[in-house]
Amino acid sequence: MRSHYCGDLRASHQGETVTLSGWVHRRRDHGGVIFIDLRDRAGLVQVVFDPQSEAAFAQADRLRSEYVVTVTGQVRLREENLRNPRMLTGDIEVLGTEITLHNTADTPPFELDEYSQAGEEVRLKYRYMDLRRPEMLKGFQFRSKLTSAIRRYLDDNGFLDVETPILTKATPEGARDYLVPSRTYPGSFFALPQSPQLFKQLLMVAGFDRYYQIAKCFRDEDLRADRQPEFTQIDIEASFVDEKDIMGIAEAMVRGVFKELLDVDLGDFPSMPYAEAMRRFGSDKPDLRNPLELVDIADLLANVEFKVFSGPANAPKGRVAALKVPGGVTLSRKDIDDYTKYVSIYGAKGLAYIKVNDIDAGEEGLQSPILKFLTPEAIEGIISRTGATTGDLIFFGADKASIVNEALGALRVRLGHDLELLTCDWAPLWVVDFPMFERDEEGRLAAIHHPFTQPACSVEEVKANPETALSRAYDMVLNGTELGGGSIRIHDRAMQAAIFELLGISAEEAEEKFGFLLNALKYGAPPHGGLAFGLDRMVMLMMGRDSIRDVIAFPKTQTASCPMTHAPAEVSAAQLRELALGIRKPEA
Ligand code: AMO
Ligand code: AMP
Repeated sequence: MRSHYCGDLRASHQGETVTLSGWVHRRRDHGGVIFIDLRDRAGLVQVVFDPQSEAAFAQADRLRSEYVVTVTGQVRLREENLRNPRMLTGDIEVLGTEITLHNTADTPPFELDEYSQAGEEVRLKYRYMDLRRPEMLKGFQFRSKLTSAIRRYLDDNGFLDVETPILTKATPEGARDYLVPSRTYPGSFFALPQSPQLFKQLLMVAGFDRYYQIAKCFRDEDLRADRQPEFTQIDIEASFVDEKDIMGIAEAMVRGVFKELLDVDLGDFPSMPYAEAMRRFGSDKPDLRNPLELVDIADLLANVEFKVFSGPANAPKGRVAALKVPGGVTLSRKDIDDYTKYVSIYGAKGLAYIKVNDIDAGEEGLQSPILKFLTPEAIEGIISRTGATTGDLIFFGADKASIVNEALGALRVRLGHDLELLTCDWAPLWVVDFPMFERDEEGRLAAIHHPFTQPACSVEEVKANPETALSRAYDMVLNGTELGGGSIRIHDRAMQAAIFELLGISAEEAEEKFGFLLNALKYGAPPHGGLAFGLDRMVMLMMGRDSIRDVIAFPKTQTASCPMTHAPAEVSAAQLRELALGIRKPEA
């Protein structure tokens, strides 16, 4: 039907007769001449109709926004003073002589140029309209190039693309499962995979050696800007490897796609132990573009009278830390109140601070609501350890270590953005040496990565000291986002049984849930390991978008529903009967 894409026309096409197909982006009537901005996948071009082409002119007069047409006409240069340097096709226009109208369109629910005024609910309800915006399209063109580059890299490195089941048994990755009732086994359910974890390990037992899959994963968890209930992983596993091998393959892949698609050199990624990341940044996914760091000061405050500080300073799981903000004296009372409110989201009970107005004036030069509670030695110690000088502000966090880390960690990120402190565009790193376990709220051990991760010690050692045992897991972090993570796996049945036991999973439960894996480990499982990247997050970061919803064609809302299809939806009584299900609605 078409000879060219609208957005591809240039001055070099001058004089050619072209046929274009697309949507009417805008129609303007200028004293007897009609201008149509015609839009297709490649962009916009201006088409002009003058009354000399009588039939086409009359047709053009009836066109409205988002009508679908095919237009034939001749490319001509615009007059010098009418060229539009902001449009790629701005040097030319098409003098239209024929129009075929394929379809009309109702008034759009929102103007594509003014999408930001439409709420997200409306944009998702009319997602196909939202996706007409060139900026959205750009994200998907990029995503398609990225998956293609990733496939090429993995194919070239001997990885086999294998699909694994969607209707399966629960794979524990720390979220709730999405369940699908079975008709043939009334009362039984499939679970949608939280990841292909167990299947990729079984493929290693099968001897496939190198596997990858661009895999849909499903997790029923609290949603945020970088989490969707249904998302995509670049899932990788290999046999006879250690962490250096897997990290090398993954890092080369990421470095390669950044170079190829963005012309960015990421260089070698530094590695940082988990404990160091928590100590310096309060986070296991530190944004290293941000120069702010937490500094421990518990030892300086163990004996002060101020219980807010001395309590946590003396508690075994407490932490007292300072965060120096260079130039922070300019923060107003209101700024500090806002930050205090902000850290309270993370459980902080306050946000003490010291402003250093004049470092040479001793205590006179300091301004703070807590000075009176501190000894001169403590104050001096804090100033010297943080290296604070005139113009700086020091924030304090004192509480359980987990609260201080979350609160000051989040404050650090926010200050970095608010005060525009970021020092570079890209800061990748590996976080390594994770603990095997953490204690959940009920005091039970829970796996930090997943229960199939190999400890960095023997069965005896992990059993004796589970809380200090480290794992052979690694996360790739980019600009403060966890881009991917993985581990070397347990390939030994006794070790796997020991880990289940530590996690409080009884032998019967382990057999019932993961018997197939335990069995497979009996039949010659090779040492193996791998990792998975969040593809949506990778696209989001590479495209500089704020949410993965912008790079998923049909995402769910924050409450895990789809305003367009109205999923999830009730089903008929007949379907429920067939599945042997009854519904008990929660009380209002
Ligand atoms: P993990 O649970 O760390 O590991 O997931 C790997 C990566 O997937 C992305 N991701 C998500 N992206 C969008 N929405 C979500 N809800 C979501 N959850 C996770 C993140 C994360 O780094 N089987 C292991 C991997 C392995 O050990 O090989 C796993 O799934 O970018
Ligand atoms: P208060 O004694 O509660 O009036 O607190 C004195 C100062 O300490 C205020 O600036 C509070 O914001 C701050 N503060 C209180 N609790 C904490 C805490 N757990 N960590 C850091 N600062 C705190």
